[in-house]
Amino acid sequence: MKLSRRPRRNRRNETVREMVRETRLHPSQLVWPVFVREGQKKREEVPSMPGVERYSLDVAMPEIERALNLGIKSVALFPKIDSMRKDDSGTEALNAKGLMPESIRKLKTEFPELSVITDVALDPFTSHGHDGLVKDGKILNDPTVAVLKQMALMQADAGADYVAPSDMMDGRVGVIRQALDTAGFEDTGIIAYTAKYASSFYGPFRDAVGTKLAFGDKRTYQMDSANAREALLEAALDVKEGADVLLVKPALAYMDIINRLKRKFPLPIGAYNVSGEYSMVKAAAEKGWLDEEAIVLEILLGFRRAGADMIFTYHARDAAAWLRGG
Ligand code: PBG
Repeated sequence: MKLSRRPRRNRRNETVREMVRETRLHPSQLVWPVFVREGQKKREEVPSMPGVERYSLDVAMPEIERALNLGIKSVALFPKIDSMRKDDSGTEALNAKGLMPESIRKLKTEFPELSVITDVALDPFTSHGHDGLVKDGKILNDPTVAVLKQMALMQADAGADYVAPSDMMDGRVGVIRQALDTAGFEDTGIIAYTAKYASSFYGPFRDAVGTKLAFGDKRTYQMDSANAREALLEAALDVKEGADVLLVKPALAYMDIINRLKRKFPLPIGAYNVSGEYSMVKAAAEKGWLDEEAIVLEILLGFRRAGADMIFTYHARDAAAWLRGG
C-alpha cells in the first residue's frame, strides 16, 4: 500500500506523542472546592461524594496545605451553615464575623500565596435554599444583587483574591465590579459563573452544603440546558460588566459551551466539574467498573482540550498527585 499520509507516525512512541501533544494538564490549573463548617476538630463525610469532607477551619488548614504541596494554588470556599443561622433573607451572609470572612482571613494569613476564591450567593444562608430573596414565590433580581454586592465587599475586605458570583442574577457582575472599585478593591477579581445551567448534576453539592429547596426550582435564574446561544449573551454581558474569568457549569455535558466561549471571548475560561460529575465517577470506580485515575485524567484533559484554562474539581488533589506520578 502506498499512502502519502500516515498519521500513525506521530503516535509511534511516547516521545513522539509527547512532542506533538496539543493539550496539557497541570496542577496549577486546578481549583479545589473546599467545604468549611463551624466548630473545631470537625470533619464530616459527604455521603453522596465519597472522599469529600466538610472541615472545620482548623482541620481545613493542613488539608489545604497538602493541596498546596501538590501544586494546587487555588481553592474555592463554600460554607456549610448551621440551619439555626439560616433565615428567609440569608442574613448570615452579611455577618462580617461569620464563617466565610473568618475562613478567608485565616487562610490568607496562613498561606498568602494561596489564591482564595469565594462564593457569592445566598443559597447556603437562606432557609428556602434559593440563591436570592423571595417574594410571593418569585426570586427577586435587583434586591438580591444589592445583597450580593455587600457580600462581595465583605469577602474582598477579608482578603479574597477572586469573588465568584454563582447566583445567576442579572447585572450582578457590573454592580459588584463598581462597588469593589469604589471601595478600593480594584485588584480583587471576579470569576463570573457566566453560563450556569439549571442542572440535576448539583444534587450532591446541595447535600454537602445542606441546602434543600423549600419550593420550586432554579429555572427562573439558572440557564436552560437546551440553550447554547444564550451562553454567548451571558458571556457578552459579563465581559462588558468587568468579569475577569468566565465559568461554565456544569462541565461534562457542556463541553460545547466551554468551546464556544473560548473561541469568542478573550478572557480565561473556567470549567466547573460539578458534584454529580464527581460522584458518578467515584461510584463507578468503587464498583470496579472504571479505572478512576485514567478516567479522571481523561475527563480533565477533555475540559482543557475543549478550551478550559482552569478547572474547578473535587478530584483536584487526587489528580495533582497522579500528574506528579504519585
Ligand atoms: C449555588 C451553587 C451550586 C453549586 C455551586 N454553587 C448549586 C446550585 O445551584 O444549587 C453546585 C456545585 C456542584 O454541584 O459541585 N449557588
